[in-house]
Amino acid sequence: MENIQFIKACDPEIASVIEREYSRQEYGLNLIASENTVSRAVMEAQGSIMTNKYAEGYPSKRYYGGCQYMDEAENLAIERVKKLFGVEYANVQPHSGSQANMAAYFSVLSPGDGILAMDLSHGGHLTHGAGVSFSGRLFNFSHYGLNPETETIDLNQVEDLARANKPKMIVAGASAYPRTLDFKGFSEIAKACGALFLVDMAHIAGLVAAGVHPTPVGYADIITSTTHKTLRGPRGGLILSSAERGKKINSQIFPGIQGGPLMHVVTAKAVAFKEALLPAFTEYQKQVVKNAAVLAKVLMERGYKLVSNGTDNHMVLVDFSGLDITGKDAEERLGQANITVNKNTVPNEKRSPFVTSGVRIGVPLITSRGMKEDAVGDIAGFICDVLDDEANVPKVATKVKELCTHYPLYGDTAC
Ligand SMILES: Cc1ncc(COP(=O)(O)O)c(C=O)c1O
Repeated sequence: MENIQFIKACDPEIASVIEREYSRQEYGLNLIASENTVSRAVMEAQGSIMTNKYAEGYPSKRYYGGCQYMDEAENLAIERVKKLFGVEYANVQPHSGSQANMAAYFSVLSPGDGILAMDLSHGGHLTHGAGVSFSGRLFNFSHYGLNPETETIDLNQVEDLARANKPKMIVAGASAYPRTLDFKGFSEIAKACGALFLVDMAHIAGLVAAGVHPTPVGYADIITSTTHKTLRGPRGGLILSSAERGKKINSQIFPGIQGGPLMHVVTAKAVAFKEALLPAFTEYQKQVVKNAAVLAKVLMERGYKLVSNGTDNHMVLVDFSGLDITGKDAEERLGQANITVNKNTVPNEKRSPFVTSGVRIGVPLITSRGMKEDAVGDIAGFICDVLDDEANVPKVATKVKELCTHYPLYGDTAC
């Protein structure tokens, strides 16, 4: 258990919440595709006195005195992430992926401009034009989806929509898409119709950093990301681009949409980027892809249909269309067996977003715990046992706890 002695002394109620959440994480299998478990070093940075400081502005151009160490930390984060992805410019201040997207749109578009992005119900993100998000309210979105036969992105459809709607920007990137994104193909379409090309690599940033998914660098005008998913850093966002676009993007983050940066988080991003530059991080990402492939294989062998019939990345999407079980049922039932997944819409979804006909299952976090193909094969079996028959829940819940004791969330290492 983490050291929370001061919280215990000052606030036993919150200490108890943290302790119970710790047990949930330690003794359960967290298969949420967008979550991970950060290193102790990242947590230490995020819990450090860097939280005490206001640092509005950017290194060497702050609106507050006493920012010399903030400048050092932010510059380290910037230089490391530039090296990691091979780019000229980085902004490491976005508080989240959503804010990275907002500032990126604002840096090159005006309200009312057209954007072509992936449909939310086919795997896109809220900030890619959902009506309930700022994006759908401020910009004029059109959406591409999955090809009904292959259940993969159909660049012919993207091209047809781009020609018909003449968007100012095309967005590639998704929250629930298990296949490789063809950045080159997207960029050619964007170029041909005079649109800017933005890649939101939030989900796959770690895979891209390790070279196990093609990079958008060299194809995209602007790249946005979260830092907390496969990239395994603190919760937050980042924006990458050319040096030329940097000034505009900086001003859209601050003062455009944010105030003072969360400097403890920026510092923790610097630590995470250093970790991501290590060879062990590449090995980790390779294992993520291998683990997802095993998960897909076992689920399909046991008769479950996967969107696009497989995976190339860190996640699978199980499609229960035509079965009695819903995404909501599956999420609840697996939860009772200490397996956490999230319900997810599937192509041509007939049920409401609160019920859905699918679940999204990801392996980044269990891979961080050291689980390899054997353990993942067992986990896939547990999932099928629970989905096949609710009566298997108690037996599987016990097996999950037992498995977790062999793969502690945190071993003895600092990183
Ligand atoms: C593709 C994509 N973009 C952006 C975001 C937004 O990130 P955040 O939740 O940090 O705002 C997410 C989060 O799930 C995402 O999947």
